[in-house]
Amino acid sequence: MSRILSAVAWPYANGPRHIGHVAGFGVPSDVFSRYMRMAGHDVLMVSGTDEHGTPILVAADQAGITARALADKNNRLIVEDLVALGLSYDLFTRTTTGNHYQVVAAMFETVRDNGYMLVKTTRGAISPATGRTLPDRYIEGTCPLCGAEGARGDQCDACGNQLDPTDLINPKSKIDGETPKFIETDHYFLDLPALAGALSAWLDDREKSGTWRPNVIKFSQNFLQDIRPRAMSRDIDWGIPVPGWEDQPGKRLYVWFDAVVGYLSASIEWARRTGDPEAWRKWWNDPEALSYYFMGKDNIVFHSQIWPAELLGYNGEGDKGGEPGDLGKLNLPTEVVSSEFLTMEGKKFASSRGIVIYVRDMLARYQADALRYFICAAGPENSDADFTWAEFVRRTNSELVAGWGNLVNRTAAMIAKNFGEIPQPGALEEIDQKLLDQVKAGFAEVGGLIEKHRQKAALGAAMRLVGEANRYVTETEPFKLKDESQRERLATILHTLASVVNDLNLMLSPFLPFAANAIDQVLGGEGNVAPMPRIEEVIDLDIKREDGSDLDYPIITGDYTQVPTWGPREVKVGTPISKPKPVFVKLDDAIIAEELERYGK
Ligand code: MF3
Ligand code: ZN
Repeated sequence: MSRILSAVAWPYANGPRHIGHVAGFGVPSDVFSRYMRMAGHDVLMVSGTDEHGTPILVAADQAGITARALADKNNRLIVEDLVALGLSYDLFTRTTTGNHYQVVAAMFETVRDNGYMLVKTTRGAISPATGRTLPDRYIEGTCPLCGAEGARGDQCDACGNQLDPTDLINPKSKIDGETPKFIETDHYFLDLPALAGALSAWLDDREKSGTWRPNVIKFSQNFLQDIRPRAMSRDIDWGIPVPGWEDQPGKRLYVWFDAVVGYLSASIEWARRTGDPEAWRKWWNDPEALSYYFMGKDNIVFHSQIWPAELLGYNGEGDKGGEPGDLGKLNLPTEVVSSEFLTMEGKKFASSRGIVIYVRDMLARYQADALRYFICAAGPENSDADFTWAEFVRRTNSELVAGWGNLVNRTAAMIAKNFGEIPQPGALEEIDQKLLDQVKAGFAEVGGLIEKHRQKAALGAAMRLVGEANRYVTETEPFKLKDESQRERLATILHTLASVVNDLNLMLSPFLPFAANAIDQVLGGEGNVAPMPRIEEVIDLDIKREDGSDLDYPIITGDYTQVPTWGPREVKVGTPISKPKPVFVKLDDAIIAEELERYGK
């Protein structure tokens, strides 16, 4: 048994999330966590909404409300969507809690006191027209490193390098096109060069483990080539106050400094809410604990460089030495699991241009497991992937409905009709044993692939076994065994099928948790093989709203301790089985044209 931290990227609360987001961080982290729990590990899965930073300020300005009000609204929408998708967080919280503010401040102070924060006077961009700070990502220009147009002041998407706005050639404001004015301003910089040796040693060690996706490790090592101190505060009035600079409310911590600390603060909040406030340490201070970070590729640098640098600085493990603070020596990531991008009908998602499918809209019209299936089978695991309605309909109908759903359905229907309960089998023939053995062996194969973050291959292997089982029905033809003399053979085949469906259902449950519970009921079980998250309304543990009222917010949590063990289980002879209702909804081909029209293609 290992302790496993599933650290899932924190969605921005600047709007509702689209299916590209949940394909990148949401579903893969849930599949992994659900499987790891079944495999007997002690999983802590945490995340929350990322509520600071400029995109939220800009969205709030546009809506004519405060950043806090906007964050409140979107936090709730996102929480509802992620629960509807069945994502089994132990705690999904937010970055505007008192607990998060405290943990971030503690982190910052120790990193600073250990000598890894430098105050530097820099040139910051303001809008000459309004005098307001122009945030990095709202400045665009030519990348000085690769020459690409449209590089942002924080990062160039073409080459992936982090930038400062002053690096850009020919900078322009994205808000109004004007050329920004650069003024002198003081900021804290994370001393990355003093942490580069430790970062590099950590990455080399991780590379030796051989488990990281090679592109992620190469990409991360490349960042060390030209490592510079990086600003960790901003001229902005929405964010966590800079410890020691509380008298300057126009300066706040950089959103990425605070967001990545969320993994730790959420673990602490989880422990505090369970009544064992030190429980988080088992995932963070014990060097044997493992941690997996799930995200889209645009987040890699923050998880393979900034967050590990913060941790190393906190631990006092850089060139300047130092001592860990009260939180103790903290674990660095075991693995940064990054996915590529999902496009829609060949185009990049762009909410501003309506090229977007919101999770909420999708789930209003289709089953959550149909979306989960598409993401797992055809998502952007190792390369960019395209969502098309035609492919969504095809996969749902031919793989879920005609493949898995059909196997479940005819198995239960034949048992109901002929026996009304799972029958006592006679002697197994070779063909029965062969199928049972294949399915049994499937657990090790599918589980091993999920552990290596090869979920596409894992799902493919499980679905191949579904195919084998459907072929078994074709070959053994149980529907033709009508004579009394064939009754024992019929019982053996149907018992074999019940056993196979039951096992395949467990094997598929990390991918298809809603269907898993429904199918468990079809087979006479209680329908709780895949525990589901729930929303709980809570009150902030530390702070109140400005008007003195309780700060209440919704969290996602759940009890996931009662999971079946990963592996074959016996079905009980005599379990009553009634005529089943189909588990998966077949989609009409007409929806392809309808959806394309809805999305204005
Ligand atoms: N909000 C970021 C995004 O959506 C992800 C933040 S991950 C965190 O790209 F760890 F920093 F929170
Ligand atoms: Zn570039």
